[in-house]
Amino acid sequence: MQTASFRKTLLSVMMGTLAICQTAMSTPSTGSALAKEDTPQTPAARPGAPWWKEAVVYQIYPRSFNDTNGDGIGDLNGITAKLDYLKTLGVDTIWLSPHFDSPNADNGYDIRDYRKVMSEFGNMDDFDRMLAEMKRRGMRLIIDLVVNHSSDEHRWFVESRQSKDNPYRDYYIWRDGRDGGAPNNYPSFFGGSAWKKDEATGQYYLHYFARKQPDLNWENPKVRAEVYDIMRFWLDKGVSGFRMDVIPFISKPDGLPDLPAENLAHPEFVYANGPRVHQYLQEMNREVLSRYDAMTVGEAFGISFEQAPLFTDARRRELDMIFHFDLVRLDRDGWRKKDWTLPELKAAYAQIDRTGGSHGWNTSFLTNHDNPRSVSHFGDDSPEWRAVSAKALATMMLTQRATPFLYQGDELGMTNYPFHGIEDYDDVEVKGQWHDFVESGKVSAEEYLSHLRQTSRDNARTPMQWSAAPNAGFTTGTPWLAVNPNYAQINATAQVDDAGSVYHHHRRLMEVRSQIPALIHGEFRDLDPANPKVFAYTRTLDDKRYLVLINFTRETVAYDLPEGLKIAATLLDNGAAQPPLQPGAASVSLQPWQATIYQL
Ligand code: NOJ
Ligand code: CA
Repeated sequence: MQTASFRKTLLSVMMGTLAICQTAMSTPSTGSALAKEDTPQTPAARPGAPWWKEAVVYQIYPRSFNDTNGDGIGDLNGITAKLDYLKTLGVDTIWLSPHFDSPNADNGYDIRDYRKVMSEFGNMDDFDRMLAEMKRRGMRLIIDLVVNHSSDEHRWFVESRQSKDNPYRDYYIWRDGRDGGAPNNYPSFFGGSAWKKDEATGQYYLHYFARKQPDLNWENPKVRAEVYDIMRFWLDKGVSGFRMDVIPFISKPDGLPDLPAENLAHPEFVYANGPRVHQYLQEMNREVLSRYDAMTVGEAFGISFEQAPLFTDARRRELDMIFHFDLVRLDRDGWRKKDWTLPELKAAYAQIDRTGGSHGWNTSFLTNHDNPRSVSHFGDDSPEWRAVSAKALATMMLTQRATPFLYQGDELGMTNYPFHGIEDYDDVEVKGQWHDFVESGKVSAEEYLSHLRQTSRDNARTPMQWSAAPNAGFTTGTPWLAVNPNYAQINATAQVDDAGSVYHHHRRLMEVRSQIPALIHGEFRDLDPANPKVFAYTRTLDDKRYLVLINFTRETVAYDLPEGLKIAATLLDNGAAQPPLQPGAASVSLQPWQATIYQL
């Protein structure tokens, strides 16, 4: 790891006035019926703003976070054991990827029982204890709502497939085949057709994802009522909201006609545009969400910038925020990697900001469990530039007008894994694509693997690197997925002890963000959208104005400040070796990967 020299960051004036706001501790609870009033209250940066606009969310992929019983799989007790680490980092909300009972065809995104904890992760007592410990620290928990589909082992599907007149038949989407094949030409995201013939009745069921993930039939009011009950069950336990898996896909196109040829490679644009998605979300809001102080964030795969406000305009009463994928998928076509440019990335940020408008709100994220590591993707993961570029990306991510979603390990600048062969991958998606593209002879193994190395979801799923101990301190057993061999250099223990680390830069950014309302709520303006090297933007609220400059290159770059713009002080920089700034200077000499927040 590069040891970047940490320079004084906060101005002394700020140090004096900006005491860290300690989050109020809630009353410890047994975890069984945590009512709305028990939810911790974080002091608002802007009075009246909902808590979730000012939250910083940290995503935990439990399987890879921390294993406490040596079975090689992370568990809920492992999360509880690391809450102080997260609290010190400064996150106040945790998004837990699915923790429900599952046969793990897609690592928990295939749920067998929505009211039971996955046995590998622990049990309900462990969950209740984890939640109570979060609340005790003033933290909130949001969980994953995966209700476009269930597992084929869910009792609803076990019943549904029995016979055409089973009471649960209509919980899923069954059709007769056409000309001896599938009912239509829908492809599955995980390879092959989205239909599977079931021998019991000779009909086909729909699965947008794996065969073990049959799609639920939202047309059936009983299905919707079941989902709302599940939501109430967890909200009544005290969770503070949901990340909603592929939520735009819940309404299927009327009549399920064939996809036009041009949509076959990207069916998400059709799957996300069913006729009743907004009706269902408004009903869900009326029936459940409006009765709790809960936040919602929809995974809006297939939704364009223009459509986004339909989900997030507060006046429509659907969701609070969505994840747009145009930014993290900027340089992707499925598993293929393409080049990207800084102006394209900036255009995505500007578009995202615009879609929030005055009645909506956005998310800011650079990766999650479905995408490569952010420093390997948008930064520079070579030993020389990894740490400073990871800090630059964090500066960008945490100074948007949006709720930031940080993914586990990104606070350390964890990198992509050095994959070699197909046998190194675990992901169900990779197996389907290998069959469709390589085994079918459409592309060579070398070509597929060279792209996959950069685009695979498994890059983000390798175990969390806690220390230089064997298996990065993640497990005393055999990890379910290989640990990145760079853990001796990149790990939490080393970074917590190093004030100049990527970890501490994240901590400082969150601290500054929580204390400067303009960095959360202020207007965003890109000063120089076409600049291929520097991202320069201002955040303005009332009479407070801040400038963020980020050099996306390995070179020193001179940035000329626009007419009339004067830097008053440096608020926070990322430790790129930098000469002192001359007061009133018209130009800033930005060091390689320098990222600085200035007060204007
Ligand atoms: C999106 C999830 O993030 C991904 O991990 C999963 O494979 C699919 N939805 C299916 O649930
Ligand atoms: Ca375990």
